[in-house]
Amino acid sequence: MQPYKKVYSEAQQDPEGFWLEQARRLDWFKHPKVAAHVRKNGMADWFPDGEVNVSYLALDAQINAGRGEQVALYYDSPVTQSKASYTFNELHHQVACFADVLKQQGVEQGDRVIIYLPMIPQAAIAMLACARIGAIHSVVFGGFAAHELAVRIDDAAPKLIVTASCGIEGDKVLPYKPIVDKALAEAQHQPRTIVFQREQCQAEIREGRDTDWEQALSQAKPIEALPLPATHPLYILYTSGTTGKPKGVVRDHGGYAVALNFSMNYVYGLTPGEVFFTASDVGWVVGHSYIVYGPLIFGCSSILYEGKPVNTPDAGAFWRIVQDYKVNAIFSAPTAFRAIKKEDPEGEHLNRYDMSSLQRIYMAGERLDPATYEWTTELTDLPVYDHWWQTESGWPMCANPVGVSAVKVKPGSSTFPVPGYEISVLDPLGKSLNSKEEGAICVRLPLPPGCLTTIWGDEERLHGSYLNAFPGYYCSGDGGHIDDDGYVFIMGRTDDVINVAGHRLSTGEMEEILANHKDVAECAVVAQPDELKGELPVGFVILKNASTIEHEQLQQELIQSIRSEIGAIACLKTLHIVPRLPKTRSGKILRRLIRQVLQGDDVAVPSTIDDPTSIDAIKETLR
Ligand code: COA
Ligand code: AMP
Repeated sequence: MQPYKKVYSEAQQDPEGFWLEQARRLDWFKHPKVAAHVRKNGMADWFPDGEVNVSYLALDAQINAGRGEQVALYYDSPVTQSKASYTFNELHHQVACFADVLKQQGVEQGDRVIIYLPMIPQAAIAMLACARIGAIHSVVFGGFAAHELAVRIDDAAPKLIVTASCGIEGDKVLPYKPIVDKALAEAQHQPRTIVFQREQCQAEIREGRDTDWEQALSQAKPIEALPLPATHPLYILYTSGTTGKPKGVVRDHGGYAVALNFSMNYVYGLTPGEVFFTASDVGWVVGHSYIVYGPLIFGCSSILYEGKPVNTPDAGAFWRIVQDYKVNAIFSAPTAFRAIKKEDPEGEHLNRYDMSSLQRIYMAGERLDPATYEWTTELTDLPVYDHWWQTESGWPMCANPVGVSAVKVKPGSSTFPVPGYEISVLDPLGKSLNSKEEGAICVRLPLPPGCLTTIWGDEERLHGSYLNAFPGYYCSGDGGHIDDDGYVFIMGRTDDVINVAGHRLSTGEMEEILANHKDVAECAVVAQPDELKGELPVGFVILKNASTIEHEQLQQELIQSIRSEIGAIACLKTLHIVPRLPKTRSGKILRRLIRQVLQGDDVAVPSTIDDPTSIDAIKETLR
């Protein structure tokens, strides 16, 4: 039997034995005897009798294993021209002291803490400190605007927000504190804040509500990690769904730690002591799993990079990092490599650096398109791997089994299901499809350790979003197929979620914002393919009859409203004002048709369309 098949079938035939064996590799306060308790809805609570703490595993356990003087975290910030490094001993001290700061602020086990920080070491320190005392962190990506932050404040009801005076994007200094203040003015719930002052910009501290990070830390003493039930929530991470209200994906301590520890070798082929560079942001799941928790729990050194793939200062940025820190594996989104390719198609920058430490390149966040795959492979002469996962899964669901024995890459495919994930392609009635037939990509329940346990405060939404569509399965929201050799091809979302530069956004949410404008009668937002960012949102708007607003002014106002409500990362820059939108006779907007027109594809007009001339109206507008 092939090595991959052997490991995969072990996990399939004896999941309890397989995952208990993986669990034994970690340092528990109380080792679990039970692998999983499966709930009525088919979801599993992993290691229900175990006691653990992820912060302990990431720091104390590494020191106990003799890695105290190894670098845990490198901070590299071309935007501030600064670098720093923290050994496991140093990071442990910082985290243990900040955990005390949290305690002094009244944060207890089970309390929520929102972390709204740029890519600075304090983000990782705050996350690990929350975990240390059993507080549940919710990191909000720094690119989100005040409204998005306010929505998360009201949903998570945190005791505290940890923020910084500013983030830095290229050559722009973006003050964060005014965003936090604006979010707090909008939110019902009113937490206190801790502010880390950066030298690029000083935040105003409000007496009685805001505390200065350094001042609080100067009075703190290191505290021990709290033994927690393995099922205790570690974090809530909000992700876009199909409505304006983001979904708070909840993840546990025990199952997550076991899954990440397994993946570090199985997926990424790493061994403890090696260096992993994940170029993402701590605001996304990739940052949680493979900048902070995964590498540290496994004993690797991780790099926190405050910069872009290009322009900070050039398209050689990633290759410089590889050379400077002797990186063994690098992971980023295909859009980042497309940006490098655009600036430096011949790879002249790459030739300036010593790349000898680098063994493998990983991409995820969107499908790795074959052209970017070929370019990266030819340029670097290294294995390049696509792998598929989501905020909900927390770690890869499909990947090349590199740690066991790498298999041939098929461009466009994220390779095979990872042990623990039984993947099926289903038709709308839930029938399993044959190979190569396109359908909904689903995972048979129960999910392996590491995946979401629920949606924060809304168990019903867990059912509605993922479990009801295909009983017995988790519905991923992605469509695709599996070929005759078992390779999985993920082709795109089947819902209103789009992927802009590796950022997951909801077109439904954008439509809600556009529809709030006083001159807008109806609207639709659909994705248009984009060479650099994968997809870009494009808006179509019907004016109210009584509207007299100039079209150009309306377009500007609408674009601005998306920037100020969601944030600049939404990248909605094109808006068309149209007389009609294609709809079914029951009034449902046919977004798929609009997308086909935008992409220049053949338009498959359904018999249920209300007014076929509405398609011509869209074509006319786009001409
Ligand atoms: N804080 C504040 N603003 C942010 C931000 C942050 N953390 N990240 C992005 N923005 C802003 C940018 O400044 C820009 O604003 P502008 O319209 O005023 O110029 C806007 O959001 C769009 O940013 P971005 O999508 O990053 O576009 P870009 O043209 O600046 O860069 C890429 C393009 C491809 C280089 C960049 O998107 C990239 O590195 N993508 C990789 C993403 C990634 O790692 N995803 C994680 C999944 S693995
Ligand atoms: P996020 O939850 O932000 O990580 O986004 C997850 C979504 O990104 C998935 O549901 C997919 O639509 C898409 N995605 C991520 N990785 C891949 C991949 N390797 N191939 C195809 N789509 C991907």
